[in-house]
Amino acid sequence: MKEIQSYIAEHKNRFLNELINLLKIPSVSTDTAYKNDVLKTADAIKTSLEYAGCDFVQICKTDGYPIVYGEKIISKDLPTILIYGHYDVQPADPIELWDSPPYEPVIKKTEKHPEGAIFARGACDDKGQMYMHVKALEFMTSTNQLPCNVKFMIEGEEEVGSVNLSTFVKNNQEKLKNDVILISDTGMIANDIPSITTGLRGLSYVEVEITGPNRDLHSGLYGGAVANPINVLTKMIASLHDDDNHITIPGFYDNVEELSKEEREQMTKVPFNLDNYKKALDIDAVYGETGYSTNERNAIRPTLDVNGIWGGYTGEGAKTVIASKAYAKISMRLVPNQDWENITKLFKTHFENIAPKGVTVKVTPHHGGQGYVTPIDNIGYKAASKAYQETFGKTPIPQRSGGSIPIVALFEQELKSKTILMGFGLDSDAIHSPNEHFGIFNYLKGIETIPYFYKYFTALSK
Ligand code: BES
Ligand code: MN
Ligand code: MN
Repeated sequence: MKEIQSYIAEHKNRFLNELINLLKIPSVSTDTAYKNDVLKTADAIKTSLEYAGCDFVQICKTDGYPIVYGEKIISKDLPTILIYGHYDVQPADPIELWDSPPYEPVIKKTEKHPEGAIFARGACDDKGQMYMHVKALEFMTSTNQLPCNVKFMIEGEEEVGSVNLSTFVKNNQEKLKNDVILISDTGMIANDIPSITTGLRGLSYVEVEITGPNRDLHSGLYGGAVANPINVLTKMIASLHDDDNHITIPGFYDNVEELSKEEREQMTKVPFNLDNYKKALDIDAVYGETGYSTNERNAIRPTLDVNGIWGGYTGEGAKTVIASKAYAKISMRLVPNQDWENITKLFKTHFENIAPKGVTVKVTPHHGGQGYVTPIDNIGYKAASKAYQETFGKTPIPQRSGGSIPIVALFEQELKSKTILMGFGLDSDAIHSPNEHFGIFNYLKGIETIPYFYKYFTALSK
């Protein structure tokens, strides 16, 4: 593409400042206290899409937060790329672990980002990565190099399960019609090892509640004579894995796809250093399912993890009490072919079955979604691969990720098109954690690489 590097160099400071302004708005979708900020962010995205050259932009109301839709249609004979991203972010807590305030972006150098990185909640997930697409469009429209049609669909509820987006997609098939969906909301291996995400795990997220006695009890007067909901809950949770760290829920593995020897062999070729992995996390050993490598455990195997657990007295000092109730939030990451609604049912039945007498169990499903794999023999993948070759000088490695973007499987089902995941974040960018950041190199490289995807996808479509 003509002048892409010089265009980026010329507008670099503005590109950074615009992103920084977006990051200053705390668009936390899970917490209603931030409602106005989430709505304000949607307005800001609308303005930025208009500035970038969309002919038509609208804020589409839903039962939850709005979806920002924008398009630039240049010819019905040309292919259409649908860009998806999200403008909502995860909560910043625990806020005291941030080195700088989460909504006051600062640029700092890190070992992985010697050119500097922007530190703020949402910098990488997903405002920074979503905004690369807005700036890539600006470049293409302002230099008359947009080779095809483009539609943008930026939602505000990805971090809470995209429930209203599902309805929007089902009701707007014609409007969203496209030839390929392009998303930057994943990662790559390293700044000098580009990769394309070819798989996402599915998810089933549940909350459990164990109720024992009808009130909190004195732990001396009643201790030992009634079931303690917290003791019971932790014992039940512990029983969900066996000594090999296999999940014990009957039927859980029934539809799990076993990879062929060749595919597993292929995975071992992905550059990975276990010592560095352990060092980065300050752990002396990795942990997981017997018979699988670390890369396999977090990409092609399903998991069950407690995300939060509470009950009883957690204040200062000691209080002798047997709580009436205990709670936990549990997520199961699923692999392709495992149906999340079925897994949720299996979990519920099993969890109710293993409860001892003396307590009652309530399982409340939250959200979920199916896993996804993209084949690498389609023109979308090929276009992405050529784009990386152009800007990184290397062929990107296809790699499955352990994370989830549940809406992607629904896109395929409803819109009948493949999704290409061109992520530019690093695993060390601390998404969902304190001190989330996004490398300036990654941000600008993303803006540089995206227009080549448009170019090659259009060329390969002919
Ligand atoms: N962008 C992430 C997912 C992701 C990150 C996938 C890195 C692959 C690599 C997304 O915003 C996210 O956090 N998804 C949630 C699921 C959602 C239903 C809350 C997740 O994976 O926990
Ligand atoms: Mn995301
Ligand atoms: Mn996220």
